[in-house]
Amino acid sequence: MASDLLQRIRISGDVPRHVAIIMDGNGRWARERSRPREFGHRAGMRAVRATVEAAQEAGVEFLTLFAFSQENWHRPQGEVTALMGLLELYVRREQRELKEKGVEVRVIGDLSRLGPRTRGALEGIVEHTRGGPKMRLTLAISYGSRTEMVHAARALAERVQNGTLVPAEIDEALFAASLYTGDMPDPDLLIRTSGELRISNFMLWQLAYTELHITPVLWPDFGPDHLYGAILDYQRRERRFGRVLAS
Ligand code: IPE
Ligand code: IPE
Ligand code: MG
Repeated sequence: MASDLLQRIRISGDVPRHVAIIMDGNGRWARERSRPREFGHRAGMRAVRATVEAAQEAGVEFLTLFAFSQENWHRPQGEVTALMGLLELYVRREQRELKEKGVEVRVIGDLSRLGPRTRGALEGIVEHTRGGPKMRLTLAISYGSRTEMVHAARALAERVQNGTLVPAEIDEALFAASLYTGDMPDPDLLIRTSGELRISNFMLWQLAYTELHITPVLWPDFGPDHLYGAILDYQRRERRFGRVLAS
């Protein structure tokens, strides 16, 4: 099935260069099974592994996964600890294979709030996979888009204050370059699982003209077929960027 879809993607047109995913629905998946939320997060980790592989197969250049939001710090302590533990486990387990496959891992978000172990593991995988030529996997952790923009504004203000920038030089390109995602293209396709019709403070600037694909599938059930279905859906869209296309 997955290989048929991949074949269809290849003949259908351009593969989105940058796919971003809001991985949602782990808790509901666990509740459907009368299990604790952590059980859903563990299953979600397996879906991450399969999705990263599938994206690479399809030729996606940038895959960005929303793994933990700034707002998620307000969840019960036990759940936060479990999520951090799983993150660490994922990183330690996948590091070698990601490196072998040429996947470069980056992390965006406010890492100062992470514990030293989790932070160390993340810094380790970033270091270990640096320069991987095949795909860039960006993990958004402790990430909030509004804070990201505030940080960018502050950095630009500091440059004005120290005399290396004048306000008139601040334009969209410079602002975009000052975000955590400064050296990446904007997402072409955003996927959100579990059917929620909202952005939840994710890449508000970067998503200005991104195609949205919302699926009811809960994240732990998401797999290559769903990713390829979303890419085929994207390939049927007409991206106009506010213009009128010649017919
Ligand atoms: C996504 O699943 C994982 C994180 C946000 C960390 P949720 O934990 O939000 O699952 P639901 O939305 O409660 O089902
Ligand atoms: C968004 O999911 C954050 C991640 C997937 C990491 P949430 O479950 O936290 O979002 P809301 O609360 O439904 O908006
Ligand atoms: Mg959720």
